[in-house]
Amino acid sequence: MSTTNVKPVGVAILEKNGLDVDALIAQLTKNASVEFTAYYYFTNLRMHCVGVEGEGIKGVIEDARMEDLSHFESCIERIYQLGGKLPNHAHEFVNMSGCEFLEIPEPATDLQAILEKCLKAEQGAIANWNQVCNMTFGKDPVTYDLAKDLLAEEIEHEAWFLELLHGRPSGHMRRRYPGESPHTRKHSRALDR
Ligand SMILES: [Fe+2]
Ligand SMILES: [Fe+2]
Repeated sequence: MSTTNVKPVGVAILEKNGLDVDALIAQLTKNASVEFTAYYYFTNLRMHCVGVEGEGIKGVIEDARMEDLSHFESCIERIYQLGGKLPNHAHEFVNMSGCEFLEIPEPATDLQAILEKCLKAEQGAIANWNQVCNMTFGKDPVTYDLAKDLLAEEIEHEAWFLELLHGRPSGHMRRRYPGESPHTRKHSRALDR
């Protein structure tokens, strides 16, 4: 059954509110690809945090990594509700992220370089979710609610890596368990924490 001509009222009202729905779908899909790809790269980076010093860093990267998975999951339903879709091919999806900078450094266990990469990823994610907040504020309360919760979690992640790199206190307590996702868990119920 073709769904091409089906226009949900839930999308028509957004256009009436002045939202560029196609631009929002494009941005949300790109953000989803960044979260998915960062989850992969953080998995590899975390593995290379070795030694006594690396052990503590590993835990923080693990918290951020599992929450990136929550962020990817959080995007999916809204993309489809708006009429978008994920690319058929995984490499196409990963390529749109622009996350190549997250490859493990040389040497691979350079903790300072690993932390700098993590910080850069979090700062990019903040810009991405802030962009969705700006696009949807006052026009699309559902996507705005999602974007502002993702933004809140990314701001926490940035603070963790700023603390580790520059000694700037983040005010954070460790998560009770990796993937707790205090701000986004309601958007990623498939993970069933
Ligand atoms: Fe994220
Ligand atoms: Fe993050």
